[in-house]
Amino acid sequence: MTNKLVNFNCNDETLGEFPVLEGTYGYKVIDIQSLGKNGIYTYDPGFLSTASCESKITYIDGNKGILLHRGYPIDELAKKANYLEVCYILIYGQAPSKEEYESFKNTITRHTMVHQQIASFFQGFRRDAHPMAIMCGVVGALSAFYHDSLDVSNEKHREVAAFRLVAKMPTLAAMCFKYTNGQPFMFPQNDLGYAENFLHMMFATPCEKYEVNPTVAKAMDVIFTLHADHEQNASTTTVRLAGSSGANPFACIAAGIASLWGPAHGGANEACLKMLEQIGSVENIKEYVDKAKDKNDPFRLMGFGHRVYKNYDPRATVMRETCHNVLKELNIKDPLLDVAMELEKIALSDEYFIEKKLYPNVDFYSGIILKAIGIPTSMFTVIFAVARTVGWISHWLEMHKDPLFRIGRPRQLYTGESKRDFSPIHERE
Ligand code: SDX
Repeated sequence: MTNKLVNFNCNDETLGEFPVLEGTYGYKVIDIQSLGKNGIYTYDPGFLSTASCESKITYIDGNKGILLHRGYPIDELAKKANYLEVCYILIYGQAPSKEEYESFKNTITRHTMVHQQIASFFQGFRRDAHPMAIMCGVVGALSAFYHDSLDVSNEKHREVAAFRLVAKMPTLAAMCFKYTNGQPFMFPQNDLGYAENFLHMMFATPCEKYEVNPTVAKAMDVIFTLHADHEQNASTTTVRLAGSSGANPFACIAAGIASLWGPAHGGANEACLKMLEQIGSVENIKEYVDKAKDKNDPFRLMGFGHRVYKNYDPRATVMRETCHNVLKELNIKDPLLDVAMELEKIALSDEYFIEKKLYPNVDFYSGIILKAIGIPTSMFTVIFAVARTVGWISHWLEMHKDPLFRIGRPRQLYTGESKRDFSPIHERE
């Protein structure tokens, strides 16, 4: 919706009138697509004030701590839906009927196996390779196996690729875990739910029957739901930009995995647990909080702060409750949770964190739950990638239907050398 125009002036020259667009919720945006014809561009490193696209998938209000997926609040989805329903909602835009859900679930289930040659693809990695490095490789390699769904201009191909990615990511993630610990790969079981199937592939062995604890399966499903999508975060923007050139969906998701790996983004859950282990005890918390506040010290409290949330991350609220349920069910007394709880209490009462609005984010509690489930820290971001794949592919699908779809190509502010002549090396000192 356009409700007014703004004038840009530069050195008393009017650059033109630019529409102000308003969405369903949230901030208005100035449509500056035609600004460039004046030979002047905007400058916004890190895109702090820039909307890269229009989207109907997820809405975040960072000040109010609101997160909606296709209009549905995240806490309601975490409590009343399962992850596969959330996948349907993100991809198709509304909650499925019972029949639609059963059909979708059956379709995903029948795509969970991977081409058998992918198993030998793993052999090229060292056993001590980081699972995220393996995931970058094997997910990108899917485009070498599924040639029949690579025509990005074909809507059916795009849909099949989305099914394959949502279905195969847990299988590939579990294969990474099995490969690095030397156990045989386990096949997906078609009679298990999505999260239960993943945990079975992670922890079952061919030697005996393995029953997944229902509380643990539910916690895993909630973790998948809480990580499913988060509008235009760094990895989703990476997937969109890769897709804007027409790259195939498997390559685009591999690019998203690479971006998510960074400790400032999806790698924060692994970094958060390492930080809690480094702090070690409640007595040491003050020393680390002081380090985090010291401008000259690069140390940051992993799991705190967010580009958008300047209030409590609504996902962290649900994650905190899930964390306590899992530790109670498994009767685990984790000293790291004591450190986490005390750190949260101190940080939330500290002037520095209050003034900078640094609240615990989704990564703060997820690491403790995953550790309690028996998942090694090196697998934490892999699990984030499994969950986020549906968000990434939903944005990729949305982008391909956007009438403004075009290759992304930002401008720059050049501050390099002025033009100068080049002397061949024999003429140089
Ligand atoms: C995710 O975008 C998404 O939606 C991401 C995500 C998703 O679902 O996709 O939500 C997932 O990535 C969650 C964030 C996980 N990352 C961490 O927990 C790493 C620790 N957090 C920080 O690195 C930081 O808060 C970011 C990267 C998350 C946000 O960085 P911004 O928005 O660029 O903010 P900033 O780094 O400029 O920080 C603002 C101020 C700075 O102080 P000043 O320069 O203004 O004096 O707050 C300080 C920072 O020094 N600050 C922190 C801090 N985070 C920010 N100080 C101590 N500890 C921290 N964690």
